[in-house]
Parts: sequence; C-alpha cells; structure tokens
Amino acid sequence: MTELARAAALLRAGELVAFPTETVYGLGADARNPRAIARIFAAKGRPVDHPLIVHLPGVGHLERWAVDVPGVAGRLAAAFWPGPLTLILKRHPGVPDAVTGGQDTVGLRVPRHPLALQLLREFDGGVAAPSANRFGRVSPTTAAHVREELGDAVAMIVDGGPCAVGIESTILDLSAGEPRILRPGMLDAAALGAVLGRPPEFGAMPDGPRVSGSLEAHYAPRTPLRLVAATALAQTAREAIDAGHHVAVLGPEALAIAHQNLAWHAASADPVQFAHDLYARLRELDAAGCDLILVAAPPADAAWRAVTDRLSRAAAGSK
Ligand code: TXA
Ligand code: MG
Repeated sequence: MTELARAAALLRAGELVAFPTETVYGLGADARNPRAIARIFAAKGRPVDHPLIVHLPGVGHLERWAVDVPGVAGRLAAAFWPGPLTLILKRHPGVPDAVTGGQDTVGLRVPRHPLALQLLREFDGGVAAPSANRFGRVSPTTAAHVREELGDAVAMIVDGGPCAVGIESTILDLSAGEPRILRPGMLDAAALGAVLGRPPEFGAMPDGPRVSGSLEAHYAPRTPLRLVAATALAQTAREAIDAGHHVAVLGPEALAIAHQNLAWHAASADPVQFAHDLYARLRELDAAGCDLILVAAPPADAAWRAVTDRLSRAAAGSK
C-alpha cells in the first residue's frame, strides 16, 4: 500500500491523519464521522463549538456539503480552487453538527498541495481539518512542527515539506448576502474582487458565523510578543534591555544596538516571503531563550493585511 492509500484507510477507520496543505498543515478526520471529529477537538484542546473546514477533492463534491450554492461560488472555485480560499456556504442537512459547531453554515475548500489533493482523491470524501496545532498556538508549516504539537495524538503525519503559503486560507462568507472576508489570507480582497465585481468588505456581520481565528488570543507564541512601529523599535528594544529583558527582535533591518541580551532575526521585506516564514520564525524565536519578542510592524498596506492580522493576534494572545 502506498503511504497515501494507508493515510486514506486510517481516515476511513476514524483515525486522525495530519497532512500538508499549501497554507499550513491540517489535522484531518473523516468529516462524516462524528467520533473521528471528536478526536480532533480532543487532540487540539479546542472548544467543541468551533466549526471546522471541510477539505474536498474537487469542486464536484461541493453540493454534497452545501445547499443554495450561489453562482458566484462556482466562479470563485473555478478561479481559485485548488487554492488557499475557504468558502462559507449554507450547510447540507447531511453535514454532522460536530463539524459546523451546530451552525447552519459550513466552511469548504479544495487545497492545492499535491499530497493533500492525492489524499483527498484517494479518500474520495470530505476531510475536516483544522490547523494541526494545539488550540491557540502557532499553526504548523512543517511535519516536524506537527510532531512537536501533537506527537502521538495522530495516527500518521504525511510529510510534504514546508508549506508554500505559510498562513491560513482566506475565509469568504457567501452565506449571508454580500460576500465578506472573515479571515484575511494571502489571496487578497483585490484578487477576489476581480471575480466578484468589487472587493469584498472585511469582518463578520454582527449576527454572522463565529470564527475561532477571530478570537484575540490566537496564533500566539509562548514568549510575550509586541508589535512595534519600525520607527520606535530601537528605543523600545533599548528600554526593554535596560529593564532586564532578554530581547529578540524580528525586523527587516538590524538595529544599531549591540548588546548581549539582544538578538536580531532578519525578516523579509516582501509580504509573500514574510508569510511563508512567519510561523517557523515564531517557533524559532520562542525557542531562542529570550523573554520578549519585538516585531517591527509591517507597512499599513493591503499586501501586508493578512500578515499584520496574524501578528496582531500573536501580540494580543501573548499579553
Ligand atoms: O488554511 C486553512 O484554512 C487551514 C488548512 C489546514 O486548510 N485550516 C485552518 O483551520 O486554518 P482552522 O480550524 O485552524 O481555522 C478554520 C477557521 C476557524 O476560525 C473556524 O472558526 C472557521 O474557519 N470556520 C469554519 N467553519 C466556519 C463556518 N461555518 N462559519 C464561520 N467560520 C468557520
Ligand atoms: Mg487554526
């Protein structure tokens, strides 16, 4: 049996399989099997009312999971699937409550990583998969990260190397009138707007679906992290050192400060590369023995929106 045939067989048996996607590694289970889904929540330590994204082998599976699918969903799928876009649609009555957290909507996506696609085709069904990290922690972008996070809690980890995109998919809600971006990702509003006719607005409707990624305390390293304006970085670092901190600085340019309690880590000035590196960098910084991480705030520009979103949550979650 090939590795992926074995992975599909484990999924059919109700086991957990971690697998690579182009965004981050997912912790997969058979989306039709409530007992398998319960294992995801147990392994992650995630509250059970948080809905999961169902990963599909192709757009042909959409109507098995969603009803009243608007035409625009098909156009978006044609443009961006397989790829880092999750669509929120009205759920099909057959979707287990355990997947949707009891909501009347379901999150669906077709991932682009070749191993994810092969696994989904082999399984020939929907695989519910949150990011393969413990609840509230940084998402894994390598198989080694998954092993660190979840170890024996998974039956198998499919190793597909480092994830190409590096941060989670863009979530677009199509279930309630005007499309809205519930979670920004590297597939940005302008790209979606090219298909939709105009760029979607950001943020959940007041009575819209809940997104666990919208909780403040999320994506957090264990070491406190502060996002600091680039112009204030040197002074903030100096004050922190003077206050006795061991400081790690992540930014595009080295500070003109040399001190044994200060370590500078180079960050890319390109948002695509920055996103690709982000979670691995946060893990490295967490392991670097400092007690404060200072990150240079990225430019306030649309290309950096998703990265800034994740950094802000990391900062909020580590207070
Ligand atoms: O890139 C990704 O989306 C990765 C890979 C593995 O596909 N998955 C991921 O899953 O980030 P997770 O569970 O860590 O985050 C999924 C987000 C959660 O914030 C969840 O609340 C939201 O999607 N979500 C899922 N179903 C939803 C629904 N019906 N309505 C609103 N939000 C939903
Ligand atoms: Mg997650």
